[in-house]
Amino acid sequence: MISPRRPSGVSPTSNSMSAAQQILGSANMSESPAQSPTSGERNDRLWDMSSFRHGLPDEGGNSSTAGAPVAGTNSEPEKNDDGTPKPMRGGVSLDTMRSLYGPGTGFGGLRRSNSSVVYPGGPPEFPPVKKLNPLQKKRILVSGGAGFVGSHLVDRLMLMGHDVIAIDNYFTGSKMNLAHWFGHPNFEMIRHDVVDPIMLEVDQIYHLACPASPVHYQANPVKTLKTGFFGTYNMLGLAKRVKARFLLTSTSEVYGDPEEHPQKETYWGHVNCIGPRACYDEGKRVAEALTYSYARQDGVDVRVARIFNTFGPRMNWHDGRVVSNFIVQALKGDDITIYGDGSATRSFQYVHDLVDGLIALMESDYTDPVNLGNPEEYTIKEFADMIVELVNEHRARYGDAGKTSTVTYLPAVADDPQRRKPDTTRAKEVLGWAPQWAAIDGLKETVAYFYQMMHQH
Ligand SMILES: NC(=O)c1ccc[n+]([C@@H]2O[C@H](COP(=O)([O-])OP(=O)(O)OC[C@H]3O[C@@H](n4cnc5c(N)ncnc54)[C@H](O)[C@@H]3O)[C@@H](O)[C@H]2O)c1
Repeated sequence: MISPRRPSGVSPTSNSMSAAQQILGSANMSESPAQSPTSGERNDRLWDMSSFRHGLPDEGGNSSTAGAPVAGTNSEPEKNDDGTPKPMRGGVSLDTMRSLYGPGTGFGGLRRSNSSVVYPGGPPEFPPVKKLNPLQKKRILVSGGAGFVGSHLVDRLMLMGHDVIAIDNYFTGSKMNLAHWFGHPNFEMIRHDVVDPIMLEVDQIYHLACPASPVHYQANPVKTLKTGFFGTYNMLGLAKRVKARFLLTSTSEVYGDPEEHPQKETYWGHVNCIGPRACYDEGKRVAEALTYSYARQDGVDVRVARIFNTFGPRMNWHDGRVVSNFIVQALKGDDITIYGDGSATRSFQYVHDLVDGLIALMESDYTDPVNLGNPEEYTIKEFADMIVELVNEHRARYGDAGKTSTVTYLPAVADDPQRRKPDTTRAKEVLGWAPQWAAIDGLKETVAYFYQMMHQH
């Protein structure tokens, strides 16, 4: 168990400085306690900080008032003729500013003291989270937390009682996926692109940030490769720095168009490194190589999940993935489009199974790659038929007699694998994990979710 951390460079002494000391700077800090201002005097001096506005540079970079009073000189803010303070830049009044940071009742009726804030309407309601003691509670980073899988993982970790930080650039994810946690004291959301480094203090990192559907990862293949390499490099660098455990969400795509069936973790893969899918497949392969290099070279504690096709609520509607595509087409009564002759096989796991597996892997001692997927295998055509049937059943329940979709065929997509099915023996042995959801049950839930979303829009 890693103990709670203090941000580097922040000493206990600096923590115990009063706000006034931190703002007024070292000259004031050197005053002896006997000379320290009373809290009332400190407040007066803080209010006098409003005179800072005189020294703010204007758009041209010049100081707005030459020779203006500087902080700590007890100067009064500039006044109107009637004696009221002049508005600051942008027409913001000092009173408004004071209402945002002053003590007592301020803006919106908010009551604030040194240590707490009371919201006038009472605290917002959140899903109930477990109370963990400080030794059990971890600070967990989820990159790509606003995406489909990431948001379900965040939900689970929050409900388990951990502190969760989600980072995301919202390329394919959405804030709406996590809106129910905004304002919760255990949760933080940061807009950040993992291609750039970030400094945080965490105990575990689930690294998911990466577009996962061909439509999105092929839109900007160079960026996808940058996310695969630099994104993973930055997250591993962070893990190394703060000694966090790191889990990479890799993919069955590292097996390419496999010559071994079903695919075991020991299979090295069959990937076309110059094809249109290479930006994703090779991005994940290099991410795995980087992960194990950090483990060997720097002792980073790593886990690698090779995820097979996963579906469920919060999938992006327009990402062209088989399940979302087929369900949306069936709900609209449009033709179901199959690329190829429909005989290619896939196995689909429901998202809650995947989240179970990711958490089990993170908590285990096992460091080699582990397949997470559902071994039930369907041809794409069987899957399309199953979805049309489920959609029709669901609509019938609501007396909604929509048009029944028919299946149409388009030319196969380049480098689309012919067969895909995980061998999950390792997951069973080392994690005690096996999927609990039959694909059909997960599909029923997902159809109901998409139906509901469609009728809200
Ligand atoms: N869903 C699947 O079937 C599946 C299968 C295999 C592997 N995976 C892997 O699981 C992870 C999550 O997949 P998903 O299905 O939730 O996809 P998703 O597209 O819904 O989620 C990816 C998230 O990462 C964010 N993101 C993308 N690039 C980023 C960047 N440079 N910086 C910060 N955030 C960025 C996106 O905005 C999004 O919120 C991905 O790494 C994916 O490769 C998913």
